[in-house]
Amino acid sequence: MAETPDIHQEEEALGKAIDLRLMGRLFRLAVPYKKYVLGSLAVLLLESAVGLAGPLLTAAAIDLILAPKAARDVASAIVHRSLTWLGLPTQGTAGLGAIALLFLASTVAAFFLTVLMILWTSQMGQGVMYDLRTRIFGHLQRADISVYDRTPVGRLMTRLTTDVDALNELFTSGFVSLLGDVAVLGGIVALLFALNASLAAITFGVLLPMLFVTNWFRKGARDTYRDVRTRIARVNSFLQEHVSGVAVVQLFRQERRSLERFAVVNDEHRKANIRSIFYYAIFYPALDFLSAIGMAAIVAYGGWLVMRGRMSVGAVVAFLQYSKRFYRPLMDLSEKYNILQAAMASSERIFKLLDSPPRIAAPPSPVPVPEPFRGDVVFERVKFGYNPDEPVLKGINFHAETGKTVAFVGATGSGKSTILSLLLRFYDPLAGRILVDGIDVKAFDPVAMRSRFGIVLQDTFLFSGTIAENVSFFDPKMPRKKIEEACLEVGLGPLLSRIPGGLDAKLAERGGGLSVGEKQLVSFARALARDPRILILDEATSSVDPETEAKIEEAISRLLTGRTSLVVAHRLSTIVRADRILVVSHGEIRESGTHAELLERGGVYARLYALQLKDREAAA
Ligand SMILES: Nc1ncnc2c1ncn2[C@@H]1O[C@H](COP(=O)(O)OP(=O)(O)O)[C@@H](O)[C@H]1O
Ligand SMILES: [Mg+2]
Repeated sequence: MAETPDIHQEEEALGKAIDLRLMGRLFRLAVPYKKYVLGSLAVLLLESAVGLAGPLLTAAAIDLILAPKAARDVASAIVHRSLTWLGLPTQGTAGLGAIALLFLASTVAAFFLTVLMILWTSQMGQGVMYDLRTRIFGHLQRADISVYDRTPVGRLMTRLTTDVDALNELFTSGFVSLLGDVAVLGGIVALLFALNASLAAITFGVLLPMLFVTNWFRKGARDTYRDVRTRIARVNSFLQEHVSGVAVVQLFRQERRSLERFAVVNDEHRKANIRSIFYYAIFYPALDFLSAIGMAAIVAYGGWLVMRGRMSVGAVVAFLQYSKRFYRPLMDLSEKYNILQAAMASSERIFKLLDSPPRIAAPPSPVPVPEPFRGDVVFERVKFGYNPDEPVLKGINFHAETGKTVAFVGATGSGKSTILSLLLRFYDPLAGRILVDGIDVKAFDPVAMRSRFGIVLQDTFLFSGTIAENVSFFDPKMPRKKIEEACLEVGLGPLLSRIPGGLDAKLAERGGGLSVGEKQLVSFARALARDPRILILDEATSSVDPETEAKIEEAISRLLTGRTSLVVAHRLSTIVRADRILVVSHGEIRESGTHAELLERGGVYARLYALQLKDREAAA
């Protein structure tokens, strides 16, 4: 369970916060939800405007009514004009009531606008998230098998979960409120200068150290954020491996060592989090401190202006309120910066995944699979290696004629399963050709071609669902009768009558609840139910009890009858009944013939038989 180094490297390779090309692609994701986007933008502008009314109204209440001797200021002028326009009183107790009414109205409006904004932005965010998950899952389903050889499952899962979540945050809380903050800031700046330019200038003087602190925070937070992401990826992939492999861990009594290794990974994550919290711990109090200084400056200088009769009390009060509101969005902006950055990094990884098209795909105009399909397979000088410099197959030639069984025999690692993978187009040969019914397999649409094959691979994989669903592969169109027949034919009858629910018995994840032999039989039924012309069987080597073994052998002989079969064979019974045995050794076919012919020849096969196969037969 070695850790794959490049998983961490990729998590570490975080990009910048603002990448216009990525932004463009992200915006396009929101296009299907443009009515929500436009709606929430409109609501947002209204809400910002309404939200700014409070201090204006306070100022007017003081300057128009409570202390009407003082000079009129811009705030009172605006409110005065609004009241007159609405036909409301502007003097005395009635005026105060009217102002209170406006205040209430603006608060109620802000409430409803905020609710609308949250609902609409989450419609957009959830929609984008849904679309992306569907696209990523679809992509992973179609991806070349080689992607899975190279990429740890944990990392692919991260694309679907954490990365998509980061984008959701951008769409729901990042984006719109970012614009909201900018709108509010702009509005406040305009109002402050309108109220009193010199006091506004002093207020913004306090801003400089604030920007400095914010910048320091942003840099620090970004670096530590990266670090936290990397560490959490490490924790996740460790957990993923050790939870999936817990049986192995326990069998090898590695619980303690696993725990120790986990403690290290977990501790690094903890430390990285604490490092990142350090920046937050300083940033927010520092901003509070600076904003308090700003307020003190407003009180002192504003008060002095009032005493000299150059400003009204109401205007100073409005100033204080606005300046308080000014710092909040400013702080929020740096928080948003994090969201933005996370979203950029996540989207970069998501797009990178989506942008790698499967190499094994249908040609522009695929040849239709011939009808009638004979199921004739030819390998011509096929060479292949998982890494180009490590040849695994060194020129494989054979011909599996229609209806015949070809058995591949050879040591572990000699390349037998690889031959089958190439025929199934999980990979493409580096040289040579593979022909099915005389046509190069590359000319077909791989999906169409694979559907003609019945496939039973070494590791039986069942999904959570009923037995019937596993046999039909969740195809509701497959007739029940066909499913039933396939099950009976491979000898699942006794199992079906034994377990409650029969065909509709629910299987746990990966077919938990069935024995190894039973799982194999279900996978045979799955292949048989499609009545394929070509059968591909990679015999499992797991040993089962003699009774089950007899059943499996019988089921295999049913499977092979009447169709072209390519079998990686371990059972003597399968080998003996093959029309031709191909002995694979180090990526080459060394011998070819029937059981009797090869025994007589006294070569590799005869030795293999003497050493292994006979014993295996005796043991069974
Ligand atoms: N996905 C893979 N990536 C890299 N190497 C692989 C992969 N699968 C198999 N190999 C290597 O290719 C060789 C042949 O493997 P395989 O075809 O599975 O052998 P067999 O089925 O005969 O046991 C082995 O050396 C194996 O380690
Ligand atoms: Mg194999």
